[in-house]
Amino acid sequence: MQKQSLILQQKAPKNINELDQAFKLIDQKLDSPNSQLLLMKTRFISIDPIMRVWISGAKTYLPALQENDIIHAFTLSSPVDNSNDIYFGPAGLQTHFLYDKSNKQKQLIKVPRQMLQMIQKCELQNSNLLTIILNGLPAYYGLIDFCKIQKGQRVVISAAAGATGLFCIQLALNMECDVIGFTGDQEKIIFLQKQFPNIRIINYKLNNWDKQIENNSVDCYFDNVGEQMLELMIKKMKKNGKIALCGSMGSSSNYNERQGLSNINQIIYKQLKLKGITFNQELNKIQAAFGYLFQQFQQKKLRIFQEEYNQLYDTPLALKRLFQGKNIGKIIVNLDNQAKL
Ligand SMILES: NC(=O)c1ccc[n+]([C@@H]2O[C@H](COP(=O)([O-])OP(=O)(O)OC[C@H]3O[C@@H](n4cnc5c(N)ncnc54)[C@H](OP(=O)(O)O)[C@@H]3O)[C@@H](O)[C@H]2O)c1
Repeated sequence: MQKQSLILQQKAPKNINELDQAFKLIDQKLDSPNSQLLLMKTRFISIDPIMRVWISGAKTYLPALQENDIIHAFTLSSPVDNSNDIYFGPAGLQTHFLYDKSNKQKQLIKVPRQMLQMIQKCELQNSNLLTIILNGLPAYYGLIDFCKIQKGQRVVISAAAGATGLFCIQLALNMECDVIGFTGDQEKIIFLQKQFPNIRIINYKLNNWDKQIENNSVDCYFDNVGEQMLELMIKKMKKNGKIALCGSMGSSSNYNERQGLSNINQIIYKQLKLKGITFNQELNKIQAAFGYLFQQFQQKKLRIFQEEYNQLYDTPLALKRLFQGKNIGKIIVNLDNQAKL
């Protein structure tokens, strides 16, 4: 039995145009499945900014990649003979793999049937589940669970037209907040203006962009960027304001040269609360988060913005688009319609 995999040929070059050199598409032989080894098919692959760090060979919460390793990626997969069961986890860039049931690979989680039924009931696609898990959950944890945003509060969101940012905008608008979104791209400004006419959009690439927000006026900042933008936003926070730290786009291409914050004193005297946010939380929180999000989907108050590619070998192209910041919303590689083994 053969499968296709994308392996790390060369640790990623800094120049995005040379990204192709990092990947190699190979055919690999699979062992035969048995009573312990389940043959799995990858159905959907999530294209995430953290992949830039992974392909650079850095150690994160997943093992550091060596050359010839299958590249990490979060996926949804199913046993080849049972597409009703769906598993979530970092199964990597490969069309098929063997899942050792006895090994209880903690990293793969079977998606509860109830959740799959909710997906259908809300007229969503299975592929949307990846976006909800990886981007909807952090948006919920940051804004609703941690910041506890309230009607009329000023909520600022960076990388507003990205996968996580678009969830944040909608959750904050649904709470009737005063929403400000940052983007640095003209096409995204037009998109955001059209989709969300009631938010204020600030192009952070313009000079003095930060002067467009008064100091000490922000209740909640959802931070996808870190670095200088976080530093500037600390100035803008009200006393007792809250900052949800979700991502560090500002240093994803040069993570080895991360800067510190120079204004920690302001965090202290304004008594700000900062919290790191991950999609991965305790079970009781996950249930509450899904309950909240699915209710909003059912009420048609929440939409998913997603771009799709359809072949494993499209993944480098999809990553290039993400790393160039061209995506609006989420990018998924959808292998669901590919030929069977
Ligand atoms: N903690 C978690 O569980 C979790 C889960 C998902 C994502 N994240 C993190 O959250 C962040 C956003 O993820 P995402 O999937 O929503 O990404 P996304 O859709 O690709 O959004 C990223 C956007 O960030 C903006 N950006 C890039 N560099 C920037 C910079 N230096 N300053 C300001 N904006 C910059 C770009 O948009 P513009 O064109 O507007 O500049 C880019 O398109 C990432 O850091 C990611 O790693 C964390």
